[in-house]
Amino acid sequence: MEKSSHKHSRGLWNTRLGFVLAASGSAVGLGNIWKFPYIVGQNGGGAFVLVYILCTIAVGLPIMLAEFTIGRKTSLNPVGAFQSLKPDTHWVKIGYMGVVAGFFILSFYGVVGGWTLAYVVKSFTHTIISFSSSKEAGHFFGSFISNTWEVLFYHALFMGICVGIVLRGIQGGIEKACKVLMPTLVIILIILMFRSLTLPGAMEGVEFYLKPDFSKIGPKTILIALGQAFFSLSLGMGCMLTYGSYLSERENLASATVYVVVFDTMIALLVGMVIFPAVFAMGLQPTEGPSLVFSVLPTVFSDMPFGNLVSIIFFALLAIAAITSGISLLEVVVAYFIDQRKWSRKKAVLITSATIFTFGIPSGFSFGVLSEVKLFDMNFFDHVDNIASNYLLPLGGMLTAIFVGWVWGTKSAEEEIEKYEKKFHWRYTWGLLIRYITPVAVFLVFCAKFF
Ligand code: PHE
Repeated sequence: MEKSSHKHSRGLWNTRLGFVLAASGSAVGLGNIWKFPYIVGQNGGGAFVLVYILCTIAVGLPIMLAEFTIGRKTSLNPVGAFQSLKPDTHWVKIGYMGVVAGFFILSFYGVVGGWTLAYVVKSFTHTIISFSSSKEAGHFFGSFISNTWEVLFYHALFMGICVGIVLRGIQGGIEKACKVLMPTLVIILIILMFRSLTLPGAMEGVEFYLKPDFSKIGPKTILIALGQAFFSLSLGMGCMLTYGSYLSERENLASATVYVVVFDTMIALLVGMVIFPAVFAMGLQPTEGPSLVFSVLPTVFSDMPFGNLVSIIFFALLAIAAITSGISLLEVVVAYFIDQRKWSRKKAVLITSATIFTFGIPSGFSFGVLSEVKLFDMNFFDHVDNIASNYLLPLGGMLTAIFVGWVWGTKSAEEEIEKYEKKFHWRYTWGLLIRYITPVAVFLVFCAKFF
């Protein structure tokens, strides 16, 4: 009784669909739309896609269920959750690490989110669809991200939008926003896919994307795929744990996990079907790298009928996806201050977001006034991204798997998953994955960062 009233006072998701959409909103973001295509492009196409799908199932799926389960069991933020399951042990540090990772990731995520907002505006003003070559578009992108005031303005705007949504709390803000935004995203992507596929020469791109060439797969490729699965599914920092903490006990955790993983993976795959046919149809290179979306696509749009409309739609979609991920990152930090420090939601949101924004400013300036400030050949932006994505997330994910598999125990977790007589059909497989396969696989990713 006491626990359920505590749950209600924190706020709960209204419906399971709301929860699945909100969790999918967290997962689907710049990772799927900006990062996934360029990583696929750089790592040989079809075969990499297959490895990525395998990593998602063998590592992502079990860890996501583990995070949802801890979250719902404790109804707490990452720090409070580990504290309540194993009080005053070193395991609580996983929770702190998650809050710190959320803080770090949002600080630079907000910058890239700002770039996407800027490209929405620049689509309206026609500035970014009048390029004759991708070189020209790349040059334009380079000069945009070095413009101090413009970058700062859009970074602030992105953070402001996230603050506005998170301030409204669980049902009013996050759930309502995702219920509208997520389906819109799918519809827009499908329209764009048809647009892309009907371009002359598109089939070459489809072949690159779907026909696996296994000679292109090596140990490094597998590690990159695993790391991408992690980032894309929002795992390893207690983000899904926090979302699970707002879930009612009547919902089926195992099936919700499958929905979210399938949805996130489908979006990434769909994005590939938008990008590669278009890239090949335009005779461009898939190996362009991180600038693929921002410098190659506007060239593609410049050459298309209705290019301006397509450009507006595409960057709006990218911004929407970034916002729904941004709010989940902010919510992790906010939930910690609400639960552990007893702050009001308003105070927690305003203070943490202002601090994260301020910490993100040097990241925003890393391609302009601070581009010469480098340590080990990396600028501030690269360092924050590197520490959070390549160290904190894999470490957090691996420790969460070990915690659930060996410390808290799969038995306790399964009890929570099977509450109200729900069937957990892949119980045995999950136990095997979370205890052995997942920790070892993530350990390999983590090691790869050192070599
Ligand atoms: N999954 C998000 C994306 O693909 C990024 C993210 C990582 C969000 C970790 C929350 C936590 O863009």
